[in-house]
Amino acid sequence: MAATALLLCCLSATLSLTVAPAASAGDKVPVVIMVESFCPCSGAWPFEFYQKLLPQIGELVTLDRFFDASSSPLASQGCCNPSPNKTVPITNVCFHKEGECVADRLQACAQALYPDKWLEYTVCINGPCAAEISGADMLGCKTQFDVGTAKNLAVEQHCAAKLNMSWAEINTCWTGAEGVKLMEASASRSDTGPYKAVYGYEGLPVVWINGTRFSSFEQCEASSKDYQAKFIKAVCVASTARPLPNACLP
Ligand SMILES: *[C@@H]1O[C@H](CO)[C@@H](O)[C@H](O)[C@H]1NC(C)=O
Ligand SMILES: *[C@@H]1O[C@H](CO)[C@@H](O)[C@H](O)[C@H]1NC(C)=O
Ligand SMILES: *[C@@H]1O[C@H](CO)[C@@H](O)[C@H](O)[C@H]1NC(C)=O
Repeated sequence: MAATALLLCCLSATLSLTVAPAASAGDKVPVVIMVESFCPCSGAWPFEFYQKLLPQIGELVTLDRFFDASSSPLASQGCCNPSPNKTVPITNVCFHKEGECVADRLQACAQALYPDKWLEYTVCINGPCAAEISGADMLGCKTQFDVGTAKNLAVEQHCAAKLNMSWAEINTCWTGAEGVKLMEASASRSDTGPYKAVYGYEGLPVVWINGTRFSSFEQCEASSKDYQAKFIKAVCVASTARPLPNACLP
């Protein structure tokens, strides 16, 4: 199950998170991820980024996320593209089923409404991830696969309250036209522009640092020390901020 889930997962929405105001926005290294709500590795990545990487190099980066809704026949969740004007012929591929499109809309709305809180919200509604209990990243997180369902509603409401986010606003967005618009925007980013990506070939999450793809196919090891060291190094090399934090020192 885990291997299959690893093989095919992913999704798209736009978000920007600014952490620790040490460097000015112009100095920040853009990190962009393309995820799918029900891709185990897409759950593990934000968890590790939030817990382990942010405390070390948070002041150097902005994080932006979109959801895989690529219309390409090579993608795995083309069904999440709600656009009436698709630029690429969409297929009926829906590996994680329509429920994932719903979960993506919820996450995209939280992100659009709360640019500074979405990451923490995602970590909260997904629950603790496998790496925290010595499991592999590809096993995902405790409630990750329930996001957007009645089963996880109490958790989603609790997380919103905990982070002082309005559940009513999020709810209006993800169950309405705004959520659809946000998924259209994700689909566009999957299909065109500098972050064009196709899960089938590129794995998930697809990670770009300073506009260059950092992740390799089926890389699902965000919790590994080696991955984290490489990630930090790439951010430090791309950063023009001075002084650099200790994590950047050799
Ligand atoms: C899609 O195309 C139709 C016909 O050209 C146009 O009227 C409509 O505004 C387009 N919708 C979007 C979301 O671009
Ligand atoms: C919670 O959010 C409201 C509305 O944005 C704001 O007025 C209030 O100050 C916030 N409370 C805390 C504790 O951050
Ligand atoms: C980061 O991106 C900027 C803008 O594209 C570019 O000028 C710079 O060379 C990049 N830095 C590295 C280390 O690749």
